[in-house]
Amino acid sequence: MHPLIQSAAHMLALLGALAALPGHAHETLKLDAPKPNLAPTPPMGWNSWNKFACNVSEQLIRQQADAMAASGMKDAGYQYIVIDDCWQKSRDADGNIQADPERFPSGIKALADYVHGKGLKFGLYSDAGSLTCAGRPGSAGREFQDARQYAKWGVDFLKYDWCHTGTRNAEAAYTIMAKALRESGRDIVLSICEWGTDHPERWGPTVGHLWRTTYDIYDGWKSTKDRGNGMTNILDMQAERGGRSAPNAWNDPDMLEVGNGGMTTTEYESHFSLWAMLAAPLIAGNDLSKMDADTLRILTNKDVIAVDQDALGQQGRRVWRQGDLEIWARPLKGGEFAVVLFNRGEAPAEMKVGWDQLDLPAGLKADVRDLWTQKVSKQVRGSYGGTVAPHGVVMVRITPVL
Ligand code: GLA
Repeated sequence: MHPLIQSAAHMLALLGALAALPGHAHETLKLDAPKPNLAPTPPMGWNSWNKFACNVSEQLIRQQADAMAASGMKDAGYQYIVIDDCWQKSRDADGNIQADPERFPSGIKALADYVHGKGLKFGLYSDAGSLTCAGRPGSAGREFQDARQYAKWGVDFLKYDWCHTGTRNAEAAYTIMAKALRESGRDIVLSICEWGTDHPERWGPTVGHLWRTTYDIYDGWKSTKDRGNGMTNILDMQAERGGRSAPNAWNDPDMLEVGNGGMTTTEYESHFSLWAMLAAPLIAGNDLSKMDADTLRILTNKDVIAVDQDALGQQGRRVWRQGDLEIWARPLKGGEFAVVLFNRGEAPAEMKVGWDQLDLPAGLKADVRDLWTQKVSKQVRGSYGGTVAPHGVVMVRITPVL
């Protein structure tokens, strides 16, 4: 073969091979700087979307920051105040992203300073496409410019969405923003919001600190045609993904709906308990300035939060299921376990977890603490159980007695 024809053939073969590679390797940048250690445990905070959607303003954000600091949420570990979609309006002549001047007249820097002044951290939202999901300007092609702007404003957390991305490759697109953030001069958590469509659990651990695994949650027990994924359906989608979470690399089953009114108090206790079993980011999505006693009690349950924030960082798994009843187990640091007995049914159920389901010897004695009633049972052998309310949980921490 003529050498020219041969090299052309090689070139074609090479191009074909590149195109066949998942992630179109030629588009993926190299991440020189290591991922900063900003989320050794799942991030905790508040985000505007679930309750307020596009109805965001600087007064609202200040009010939520005040409430987080004063209500006991901050003391319980909540840190981030994140403005989701619709804070941004346009770009100026130089392409710099501009906040909506009517809703954020003092500007984002002043708001970030205010939030920091409360001892909290500040987060923003953008999108890897040309537009955000609500049709505001996205960051495609402006990643480095936007990241530098976020750093100047004092942003600590970026939720980065996936609407209007056309044929972009997800890994490559998120890698560009990861690189931009790491080179911005400020430590910024990258929250990947790609809905689990292109296996973010494969590339997310290198690129970001957490990644959404599903489409959006809605404030209801079960999915409906019009409203999307109910809480229990989102839970089912996590059951297949367990085990992949680790410090700085969390599966994100979407933000909390506790306190938003679409579920009962018992259902919200289940939601919060199960999210803690999943090592989920605990991002409250309710109005923090108008919390009733139950909402605050659930969101600030220190024992449940301690399970979520456990330093081992291992996600819980469903270890047993029969009809409406299921058992979730999560190994904790130091040989302890968290267990949730979950009853999806309409009648109370007697349930128990056997030590064998935790791979513990049947003769082992353990102290068992109920994390919702605070009752402690000492030196329990073989199994532990009780009555589980309809749509409710019994959640316990099991400490082997050595
Ligand atoms: C997507 C995300 C949501 C929210 C909206 C904002 O649907 O998954 O969490 O950020 O966009 O428009």
